Parts: sequence; C-alpha cells; structure tokens
Amino acid sequence: MFVRSTLVAALASFAVAKPQEPCRILPTDDSWPTREIWDAFNHSIDGRLIKTIPIGSPCHDPTYDEEQCNTIRENWHVPEFHLPDPSTIMNPIFLNKSCDPFDPQETPCQIGAYVPYVVNVTSIDHVIKTIHFVKKHNIRFVVKSTGHECLHGTFNRNWGIVDLDA
Ligand SMILES: *[C@@H]1O[C@H](CO)[C@@H](O)[C@H](O)[C@H]1NC(C)=O
Ligand SMILES: *[C@@H]1O[C@H](CO)[C@@H](O)[C@H](O)[C@H]1NC(C)=O
Ligand SMILES: *[C@@H]1O[C@H](CO)[C@@H](O)[C@H](O)[C@H]1NC(C)=O
Repeated sequence: MFVRSTLVAALASFAVAKPQEPCRILPTDDSWPTREIWDAFNHSIDGRLIKTIPIGSPCHDPTYDEEQCNTIRENWHVPEFHLPDPSTIMNPIFLNKSCDPFDPQETPCQIGAYVPYVVNVTSIDHVIKTIHFVKKHNIRFVVKSTGHECLHGTFNRNWGIVDLDA
C-alpha cells in the first residue's frame, strides 16, 4: 500500500508539473533512441520495458493464427477484452484501424495508434529512471488512466503502467 501510493504521488506530481508539450519526438525521427539505448534503459529498470504487440497481430501475417484471430474478432467490441493489455486503448475506434483484426490476413499489422513501449513500474526507482529517460530523450509519456481514479494511473497493488507514447 505504501509503495502504491508513493508511486501514484511521484507520477502525479510529475504529470502536473510538466504539462505535455507539443513537440515530442516520434519513432520516425532521427533522434528517436536506438535499439541499444532502449536495451540499456530496459536493463536499468530490471527488464520491465514491454514492447507493444498490437492485440490484433494474430490476424495478420507473419503472426497469423486462425484460432486466436477468431477469438479476437468475437471479443473485439467487448471493453473487458482489452483491459488486460496495458497498451490497448479501450475503444477500438481510437485505434484508427491500426492492426485491425477484421482487415485481410495479408494486410501488415501496423503499430499505428498504439504506444510503442510501456513500462510496468514496480518501484520508485523504476519511476525515477523512466522519468529521467523520457526527459533526456524528449519522449512523450502517459500514465495509464483507468477512468475511475482521479489520478492518472493504472495501479494494481504495487505496480503501475507508464506508456511511452509516440
Ligand atoms: C526487457 O528485458 C526483459 C528481460 O530481459 C525482456 O524479457 C524484455 O523483452 C525486454 N523488453 C524489450 C522491449 O526489449
Ligand atoms: C488514421 O489513419 C489514416 C490512414 O492511415 C490517416 O490518414 C489518419 O491521419 C489517421 N488518423 C489519426 C487520428 O491518427
Ligand atoms: C506488471 O508487473 C507485475 C509484477 O511483476 C505483474 O504481476 C503484472 O502482471 C504486470 N502487468 C503487466 C500488464 O504486465
């Protein structure tokens, strides 16, 4: 409980003190961190960096899986289906057809509107290192919102999700 509220406080104060600026870098920019830099960052936060795999990827080549794809299609409009995946924006409309499970199998799965990385923070150290990293590289970040907590965070006991947005 202590860890949880401290994490929330640390993230919330940062979010309030630093309103989003319009000119953050994008994965397509030259200054976007290289694979090596992401790996080093991942290492520094105990391997808690998660690369987004769009939820619809089993419906597309080369990761096509008919059974998984059918499950995804049947549940796509059920909000709860999207909940366990930290990088999924709840309403599929907002995904702007990024890796749409209803598109043909041969359509490439685009990362599109999904955030490229998320960090599953479990300690203040992870929070500090994440904030340091996004500031240093000028990356936009979003503390995941649950909709029913006033603070902008998804906090489940003692871990939280920080989206490193594009
Ligand atoms: C971060 O490191 C962990 C543990 O080594 C690994 O499982 C995970 O795939 C890495 N994340 C990324 C985005 O490379
Ligand atoms: C949605 O996707 C279309 C086609 O790829 C693109 O032109 C448009 O800018 C996207 N809209 C948003 C809000 O990302
Ligand atoms: C985040 O990490 C915690 C603790 O290791 C784990 O229980 C939880 O499932 C993880 N959440 C996600 C979304 O990966």
